[in-house]
Amino acid sequence: MLKLEGLRSGYGRIQALHGIDLEVREGEIVTLVGANGAGKTTLLMTICGDPRASAGRVVLGGEDITGLATHHIMRKGIAHSPEGRRIFPRMTVLENLQMGAATADPAHFDADLKRALDLFPRLNERLDQRGGTLSGGEQQMLAIARALMSRPRLLLLDEPSLGLAPLVVRHIFEIIRTINRDQGVTILLVEQNAYHALRLAHRGHVMVNGRIALSGSGAELLANPEIRAHYLDGGAA
Ligand SMILES: Nc1ncnc2c1ncn2[C@@H]1O[C@H](COP(=O)(O)OP(=O)(O)OP(=O)(O)O)[C@@H](O)[C@H]1O
Ligand SMILES: [Mg+2]
Repeated sequence: MLKLEGLRSGYGRIQALHGIDLEVREGEIVTLVGANGAGKTTLLMTICGDPRASAGRVVLGGEDITGLATHHIMRKGIAHSPEGRRIFPRMTVLENLQMGAATADPAHFDADLKRALDLFPRLNERLDQRGGTLSGGEQQMLAIARALMSRPRLLLLDEPSLGLAPLVVRHIFEIIRTINRDQGVTILLVEQNAYHALRLAHRGHVMVNGRIALSGSGAELLANPEIRAHYLDGGAA
């Protein structure tokens, strides 16, 4: 479904991605783990066209979308739940979800809203509350629900578990599994929490300094001693 070929990008003179080759097949959860500053967020943002790729290609369902403007890319069936949630704090929960649905066919709105609220009943109780007053976990739920409202084929999730209590983290990962399995959404997941992410993912990649250093099935990477030493210490706690 998604193919990255020799993808490079960065910020001004700083190059953050040094030629990324990566494939996400239809129906998969693929996870990207790596240290702070490895380029994970930049990778998701480059798929969305901001920053623009300086070389290489982003191919979605056979179509080259490299260099398209972000709002055009979002209409191709990609949704992005960015790092740090970035919900609209002054808008209510319902208004946030309406914003997420802006590119979708309005005929589906009621059904899509019900589907999102069934996944996140806590949001259903808070439809009129302003986004900025939600708890951290609730804001993360809203960010994911908002992304789903565009009916994506491919969902890009950047650190959905960041800053959340262990119980909420487990809940968020279960929901990600449900979105993939029951709703058929393909997922590219960036996570610091390598333990949970690799357990969930069909395949994973380890990013180091803007490159893919290691790839394998989630189970293979979980069992890899190097990964255990560098990324899993404390991650299982
Ligand atoms: N807006 C920006 N301007 C300049 N440099 C940036 C910008 N955003 C990121 N960078 C740099 O690009 C590199 C990759 O950053 P990126 O945010 O993609 O890493 P990351 O893997 O997501 O890290 P983290 O796990 O901390 O979120 C870093 O060296 C970072 O300093
Ligand atoms: Mg990041």
